Amino acid sequence: MARTMQTETPISTPRHVAIIMDGNGRWAKARGLPRTAGHKAGVERVREAVRTAAEAKIDYLTLFAFSSENWRRPEQEVSDLMGLLRFFIRKDLAELHRENVRVKVIGCRQSIQPDIRALLVDAEQRTRENTGITLVIAFNYGARDELVRAVRQIAEAVQSGKLEPESIDEAALSAHIDTAGIPDPDVVIRTSGEQRLSNFLLWQAAYSEFVFPSCLWPDFDRAAFHEALAEYARRDRRFGAVSAPDLAVCS
Ligand code: IPE
Ligand code: IPE
Ligand code: MG
Repeated sequence: MARTMQTETPISTPRHVAIIMDGNGRWAKARGLPRTAGHKAGVERVREAVRTAAEAKIDYLTLFAFSSENWRRPEQEVSDLMGLLRFFIRKDLAELHRENVRVKVIGCRQSIQPDIRALLVDAEQRTRENTGITLVIAFNYGARDELVRAVRQIAEAVQSGKLEPESIDEAALSAHIDTAGIPDPDVVIRTSGEQRLSNFLLWQAAYSEFVFPSCLWPDFDRAAFHEALAEYARRDRRFGAVSAPDLAVCS
């Protein structure tokens, strides 16, 4: 069972979809284009994905836009990716806001350029009261870094006497990570056929379903998104327990 909320949304609709948007470079290479052309094409798909998710009544869409390891790429590519993020926020924020999208950013705010930090903060603040889909942008995000930052905050709280070590539980850790207040992803989709997490949502994806479409991110159109959702709907989630029909057989 994927959803327990009492809305008209089908039970098999995930509440939170997280996507590792992979394959831009290969898409460009296959066309004899520079990698940046693949990233540009990828941005077009971001627009479409947000719309598709909102129409499908998904509450949260998390998109992995830039990892804490992506700084290892050539300087020019990093700079092009930063330029594209600036372009996306400047060009699309007004429309996202109009469409009632709430923007939230996860990842480390340090080591990103101050103007980008300001754009991200502005996007969050301007859209904070919106009540439609929440678009979570994972930017300069790495799950290990996120966990280290959370543990440091918790250690500081203990050191200053604000927190007892005994009261540190799963909920306490969840409350200190970047996704505090956001439900865990029901499904993680990674395009391009790669089947790894690449340091994405390690804590939050503990019970997520995984779907690995072979298409490259710039080809991940509405139909491919719906196919991934259909694949998710066919899964039987058990969370360590026994599924309902099997339980009936047991008793
Ligand atoms: C994903 O596409 C975009 C980012 C990581 C920013 P890639 O750039 O990783 O594309 P491939 O994996 O090289 O094809
Ligand atoms: C993961 O993709 C990061 C993003 C999609 C932003 P990568 O292309 O960086 O991952 P690896 O290096 O293939 O594991
Ligand atoms: Mg890649």
